[in-house]
Amino acid sequence: MLQRCLDLLAPALAQPGAVVVDCTLGLGGHSEALLSTFPSARLIGLDRDKEALRLSGERLAPFGDRAELVHAVYDELPEVLDRLGIAKVQGVLFDLGVSSMQLDEADRGFAYAQDAPLDMRMDQTTGVSAAEVLNTYAPGELVRILRQYGEEKQAKRIVSAVVREREKEPFSNSARLVELIRDSLPQAAKRTGGNPAKRTFQALRIEVNGELSVLEAAIPAAVKALAVEGRIAVLSYHSLEDRLVKQVFAAGAATTAPPGLPVVPERYQPRLKLLTRGAELPTEEEIAENRRAAPARLRGAQRIREESP
Ligand SMILES: C[S@@+](CC[C@H](N)C(=O)[O-])C[C@H]1O[C@@H](n2cnc3c(N)ncnc32)[C@H](O)[C@@H]1O
Repeated sequence: MLQRCLDLLAPALAQPGAVVVDCTLGLGGHSEALLSTFPSARLIGLDRDKEALRLSGERLAPFGDRAELVHAVYDELPEVLDRLGIAKVQGVLFDLGVSSMQLDEADRGFAYAQDAPLDMRMDQTTGVSAAEVLNTYAPGELVRILRQYGEEKQAKRIVSAVVREREKEPFSNSARLVELIRDSLPQAAKRTGGNPAKRTFQALRIEVNGELSVLEAAIPAAVKALAVEGRIAVLSYHSLEDRLVKQVFAAGAATTAPPGLPVVPERYQPRLKLLTRGAELPTEEEIAENRRAAPARLRGAQRIREESP
């Protein structure tokens, strides 16, 4: 869906002096495409993962000072722009979730297919690991996380087993958790939805990185940073992420006028225009090429008015 992201942002980035923020640099694939497609644009790239910054830094080096890479959590976007002396930007891109590098590097602990320390922090310099969540959270809290972030129907059953086992010995590695999940699920639950540990791993990752609370602050902040005519594109991989994006865009695209006004004054007019009808999905060819793209949902919006004072 890279090309579609570029098309959505294009009208705002073709003008000289345009600034685009890639809030999720990862390996720099989207950033590289943005810099090549829009030769007069300047790019600010954020990532909370230092290894991602190092790798994308190498990839984007040929673009020189057109690319400025910053170690930051994306809800820090307003502070980052402030520091760089940038008042408004013409484009913002979010490609949410984990990068293929994070999934493939076994020792980061994101993947359930390999035994590794249960870490899952995107920024390994700060925060609590997945093992700490698993070993210290109250059972009720773990059930909520597995249900809400992993959509795991067997959350109670898994958490009972986790609590029983952690009392004997705290969890440190992924293989023991994967085995425990497999053993605690009924046969019927094991037959559907791929690896039975997938949903629990996703839930732990979202909790460890505070992904939804950060996103909840970041999307409105990004919309606020857009100049009039500026555009934002967001690729989500989880229904809760997509719902958050949908809500922020829908609120921006609606009038805030009290009902019944014969004429809607300027200050109540919508600030956003939606650029996608609902969420756009990957094509079958894209999924065949890259299985990880299957759950992707793309939404875009354009700023059409200043924030009312
Ligand atoms: C799906 S990858 C992006 C891949 C990228 N578009 C590319 O072409 O290589 C998501 C990236 O966003 C980063 N990330 C996730 N949540 C973040 C956050 N809250 N703040 C900053 N970076 C974040 C991850 O560390 C990861 O590198």
